[in-house]
Amino acid sequence: MNDSRLSVSIRERTARIAIIGQGYVGLPLAVEFARAGFSVVGVDTDLDRVGALQAGQTHTPDLASEDLIALIRLGRYEATADLSVLERSDVVIICVPTPLRKSKDPDISFVVAAGTEVAARYQPGQLVVLESTTYPETTEGLLLPIFQARGAKVGEDFFLAFSPERIDPANPTFKVGDIPKVVGGVTPACTRLAASLYGQIVPRVHEVSSPKVAELAKLYENVFRNVNIALANEFALMCRRLGASTKEVIDAAATKPFGFMPFYPGPGIGGHCIPVDPLYLSWKLRLDGYESRFIALADEINRAMPSYVVEVTAEALNRQRRCLNGARILALGVAYKRGVGDIRESPALEILGKLREAGADVSYADPRVPSVVIDGVLLKATELTAEGLTSSDCVLILTDHPEFDYRQIVELAPLVVDTRSATWGIPARPGKVVSL
Ligand SMILES: NC(=O)c1ccc[n+]([C@@H]2O[C@H](COP(=O)([O-])OP(=O)(O)OC[C@H]3O[C@@H](n4cnc5c(N)ncnc54)[C@H](O)[C@@H]3O)[C@@H](O)[C@H]2O)c1
Repeated sequence: MNDSRLSVSIRERTARIAIIGQGYVGLPLAVEFARAGFSVVGVDTDLDRVGALQAGQTHTPDLASEDLIALIRLGRYEATADLSVLERSDVVIICVPTPLRKSKDPDISFVVAAGTEVAARYQPGQLVVLESTTYPETTEGLLLPIFQARGAKVGEDFFLAFSPERIDPANPTFKVGDIPKVVGGVTPACTRLAASLYGQIVPRVHEVSSPKVAELAKLYENVFRNVNIALANEFALMCRRLGASTKEVIDAAATKPFGFMPFYPGPGIGGHCIPVDPLYLSWKLRLDGYESRFIALADEINRAMPSYVVEVTAEALNRQRRCLNGARILALGVAYKRGVGDIRESPALEILGKLREAGADVSYADPRVPSVVIDGVLLKATELTAEGLTSSDCVLILTDHPEFDYRQIVELAPLVVDTRSATWGIPARPGKVVSL
C-alpha cells in the first residue's frame, strides 16, 4: 500500500488499525477508531488483560462494558496477544508504558520492544505512530533506526510519526474524541497521513514540523501541570503559616477571568504521567549538561507532600490530646486521583506507609481499589460505614472520590484531615476539619 492508497483507505475508514498496548490510553483510542467505523485490533502482551477484553470487560472508567461488547459483536474491535496481526495492519499505533527505572531514569524498554515487534513484521506502506509519552528525539533517534535496520525507507516504504496522547481518565468533559491531537511526522508525507488518520476521530489536528516538536509539546503540557501543582502545594504551606485557607484564597484568585488558571494543593502527585514525564525531559537535558531547575524544584516540593500530610495529621491529633502512635486512622481513597482505580505512583501509598511506621492503626476505604500492598503488607479496603467513621480517631481524605458522602464524614468523624478540599463549605465545629 503506498501513500495515496493508505490515504484513501484512511478517509474511507477501511484501513485496518492495530493498537499496541490496551491500557488507559490504548483501549479508549481503539474504541474511538472502532466507533468511527474502522476495524481495530487491540494488541497486548498481558494475557489476562486480553482475556478480559475479549469477554467485554473494561478496566478504564471511561468505557462501559456494553459499549465494548457492542463493538466486538459488530466485528469492529478484537483483542489479541497474537503479534501476527501486525502483518495485516495498515496502521500501527504504539501505546505502551514509559515508566521510570529505580534510578529515576527513563525506562524506554517497552517502546523498544514494541517497535522491534512492529519492524520485524513491517509491511510496505504501513503508517506507524508512537503515542507513548517520551523524551525528545525518541521517534527519530530510537524508533526510526529500528526500521531502517530492516532496510525500510521512511516517507516511502513506511510512514512514521509521533502524536502524544492527552487523555485524562475519568474526565467527564473531555474524552479521547474531544481532545485535539498534535501530530509530527518524520517527513511531510508521514505528518499528512497521521493527521488524516486522527482527523477521523478528533475535532482538530495540529500539525507540527517534526516528531521532536510533538514530543516536547506533550512534555511541556505535563511540566506545566507538575510545576503549577507544586506551586499550589508550596502555597498551601505558606497559607498554613499565615493562618489562611488555601482553598478560599485560590478560589478568590480564580475569579480573575484572564491570566490565571487555578491549581489546588493535594497529598502529592501520582499516576503514570505527571510525576514521571518531566523527569524524561530533565534526563534528556542532563545528557547535554543542562539541569532543568523548575522541574527539579517542583519534583522536590511535590515529593515532600506525603511527609507534610503525616505531619499535619500528627499535629491535628495532638491538638485533640492524641498521638499518632496508636491512633486509628481511616484513610479515604488510595487512587492517585478522583474517580479512578489507578494507584500507580499514588502518594496515598507512601502516606499509609509512613503512618504505619509511626505506629498508627491504619485502614482505608476506596470503592475502586480492593486492596493495596504497603511495605509488603496486604491491606484490604473496608466499607465506608457510619460505625467506621465514628470509631476512628482521624479520617484522612486522600482521594476525593465522588462516591464518598462528605457531609456524613464531617458529621460523624471526630477529626477530619482533608488533603483535597473535598469538605470545603460543609459546616463543622472549629478544629474538627483540618485542610491543606
Ligand atoms: N494513563 C494516562 O492517563 C495517560 C495519558 C496520556 C499519556 N499516557 C502515556 O501513554 C502511555 C501508556 O500509558 P497507559 O496508562 O495506557 O499504560 P498502561 O500500563 O495502562 O497500558 C499499557 C499496556 O501496554 C501493554 N504492553 C506493554 N508492552 C507491550 C508490548 N511490547 N506489546 C504489547 N503490549 C504491551 C501492557 O500490558 C499494558 O496493558 C505511556 O507512555 C503514558 O505516559 C498515559
